[in-house]
Amino acid sequence: MKVLVIGSGGREHAIAYKLKQSPKVTELYAIPGNPGIAQIGTCIPGLVEDKELIIQFIKDHQIDLTVIGPEVPLCLGLADDIEAAGFKAFGPQKKAATLEGSKAFSKDFMVRHHIPTARYVEVNDFDTACKEIAQFSYPLVIKADGLAAGKGVVIVDNKDDAIATLKDMMVDGALDGAGSKVVLEEFLTGFECSLLCFTDGKTIVPMVSAKDHKQVYDGNKGPNTGGMGTVSPNPFLPEGMDEIFKKDILDPFMQGLKEDGMDYRGVVFIGLMIENNQAKVLEFNVRFGDPETQSILLRLDSDLYEIMDACASYQLDQVDVKWSDDAVACLVLASGGYPGSYEKGKVITGLDQVSDDIVIFHAGTAMKEDQLVTNGGRVLNICAKGKDLQEALTKVYKASEVVTFDGVYFRHDIGLR
Ligand code: AMP
Ligand code: GLY
Repeated sequence: MKVLVIGSGGREHAIAYKLKQSPKVTELYAIPGNPGIAQIGTCIPGLVEDKELIIQFIKDHQIDLTVIGPEVPLCLGLADDIEAAGFKAFGPQKKAATLEGSKAFSKDFMVRHHIPTARYVEVNDFDTACKEIAQFSYPLVIKADGLAAGKGVVIVDNKDDAIATLKDMMVDGALDGAGSKVVLEEFLTGFECSLLCFTDGKTIVPMVSAKDHKQVYDGNKGPNTGGMGTVSPNPFLPEGMDEIFKKDILDPFMQGLKEDGMDYRGVVFIGLMIENNQAKVLEFNVRFGDPETQSILLRLDSDLYEIMDACASYQLDQVDVKWSDDAVACLVLASGGYPGSYEKGKVITGLDQVSDDIVIFHAGTAMKEDQLVTNGGRVLNICAKGKDLQEALTKVYKASEVVTFDGVYFRHDIGLR
């Protein structure tokens, strides 16, 4: 089978790595891929937004399955276009992808289908927003409606900051239009976790749990990033949540897809806040998380191609999704300065000196004159399995002493509370 992966991050490298292990996958392509993926498949330059180029490539190479990694092409309707051209895609269709593409759409979906979530109002202009904030207390959560690459949620402690943030988003266009519509939301307290599931729109299969560390500095200090590291399983998840997730979140979610006629074949990544054994949904993402995927997929014992093909073919009930009992840790090596400004082009060394039980995914690298160099904020993901979390963490931190580049930065407390 010929498989095409869309995207260029550590998540896509992890997906490609697992697909490559499938005896059914004979040819692996990525658009645009990265130097890590290039070691196991063929990378084709191009933008993930360039639907025309992608469809042409699928036709020219008669691709059996296209796996769409990031949210942007999903929200642009790439899965719809691939199917319209007569080919298979793993990733929800445009309407369902709006669950991530619009916070207001997503909140409306949750409320109509009785999925527990924070109380909210949707506002479409600055004057109304300034009036509506009166019905909330502080802290108050302000969410830009559209995709904002992780910058769309601001939590404010007082009215002045609320008005300044709303002006930024709604009047000054700070998020390129993503904030012209805004969701005001009650602040929830509790413990945050995420739940990733495979679905074909009829069947939903939760994956093993993972814990992400979003803030840049140790002890959860500093600004939010895309994620500085993950462990799987999530050591902080209370016992017995699976039943609660199923009854309160997944069952109504699947019912909602059905009632609203949404064609959802891919991954749903649900951000949750848990308090007193009750879960409320913070957000839906319509794709794998990065770097959750790196830890989760290393624990997958089943054939990823079979699962993805079954999702794309409405046959997820036909496959057995099996996981290993091992623990996995994933440490992000970032460029110094990330998530603010940082330099690129630093030579990466030591990749060939790590032991065989280390898996390294490329997240932001490039080849420059035959040398591997840094090319993004999150550069590499060092991953390892262990019989328990401690063993996995010891392995990744040991490898972090060997793999390096000028200005390398990483957290020292991945997997710790
Ligand atoms: P979202 O993109 O909606 O998941 O929001 C990004 C982050 O903002 C979440 O991971 C939470 O840490 C925080 N957040 C979002 N909504 C709320 C809320 N209602 N209460 C408290 N924190 C929130
Ligand atoms: N790690 C968070 C995300 O992928 O959105």
